[in-house]
Amino acid sequence: MKNIAIIGYGTVGSGTVELFEKNREAIDKKVERDCDIKYILDLRDFPGDPYEDRMIKDFNIILNDPEIEVVAELVGGATFAYDYTKALLSAGKSVVTSNKELVATHGAELIKLANEHNCSYLFEASVGGGIPIIRPLNKCLAGNKILQISGILNGTTNFILYKMINDQMTFEDALKLAQENGYAEANPTADVEGHDACRKICILASLAYGKHIYPDYVHCSGISHITLDDVAYAENAGFAIKLIGCASMLENGKINAMVSPRFVEKSNLLSNVNDVFNAITITGDGVGDVMFYGAGAGKLPTASAVVGDIIDCLMHHSISIPLHWDDSEDNNFIADYKDAKVSMYVRVEVKEDIANIKSKLSETFGTVLFIERDNRPENELAFITSTMVEREIDKKLDQIKDKAEVKSKIRLL
Ligand code: HSE
Repeated sequence: MKNIAIIGYGTVGSGTVELFEKNREAIDKKVERDCDIKYILDLRDFPGDPYEDRMIKDFNIILNDPEIEVVAELVGGATFAYDYTKALLSAGKSVVTSNKELVATHGAELIKLANEHNCSYLFEASVGGGIPIIRPLNKCLAGNKILQISGILNGTTNFILYKMINDQMTFEDALKLAQENGYAEANPTADVEGHDACRKICILASLAYGKHIYPDYVHCSGISHITLDDVAYAENAGFAIKLIGCASMLENGKINAMVSPRFVEKSNLLSNVNDVFNAITITGDGVGDVMFYGAGAGKLPTASAVVGDIIDCLMHHSISIPLHWDDSEDNNFIADYKDAKVSMYVRVEVKEDIANIKSKLSETFGTVLFIERDNRPENELAFITSTMVEREIDKKLDQIKDKAEVKSKIRLL
């Protein structure tokens, strides 16, 4: 039966077709019937492509074909993809996607729509590329209260940081390579500035805490301001710098969520997650810590998650696979990140005698750990504060801003 359609024949779309066709026999056995891809929708032409005979340009052909049960939406973005997904779910066709922007922006609405029309909206590929994380969080860990989620959720930035540190590659060259490998978003600013990781932590937190957490309400900073000087200080002090997304539920019931670069201790497994790999640690009140690791981006790893969702939908034809979070009308349940307690790495340009500044810093912060790097300029100082409310750290740095100008600040994990 030709019951599958693919929308978008880019990196993930072509990978999905390739992987599905390669393993079709085994997939048919799992699903216990013949299945195949009937249509591939893309506005571009692909002359000579082995699947050229399935290419179409009109979305209505998919929407109006009763044979189509599952559609993989792999166009990305929240415009056309949103309209297509709503139309398909309303027509009772299941939709699977890698589109984290759409899930993070309209997930609650689309999940509800799927439930109302006895079909499914699945998005395993939207977080962690090929890593199974949505299904384990939704099913295997469902018996736990999720205390914390933290992870490396963006392959491009992890790849860039890794290449900068290990191969002394410039930021620009490393980004170019990530784009050539198909890791980066169409607009890589979303990777570099942390927005992609932010969408992903919002999806995980929404699933874990049952309420839609919109990216607009979550503090997010990326890696574009990190210099090799910061990397050198981190190395010397026994840390790696990683872009980390985290979410946790505070004792008052509020959700603390954030994406930012972090100093991660070398003893923490996350510090050894390199290249394009992602890793996510989930802490449940029953299970304790569990860690998920694998390729976080790329053609076939992401296709692996998409094809897995297609199979799940085919196995549950006419049934809405349970997955749920409520929409949220306000952001009152999101904690202010400045109220959280952190330790902070700070690099300053010193405007007066360095010994005076050191004693001033010790006086202001209590305990301060000064750290070193090779070839440190005489007017530069780097240190790690003790753990305190972030707002307090900012206040203290502000008090000495005439004597020590902050050049870089990175939270510790
Ligand atoms: N641009 C994303 C990343 C792709 O680098 O992680 C996978 O979501």
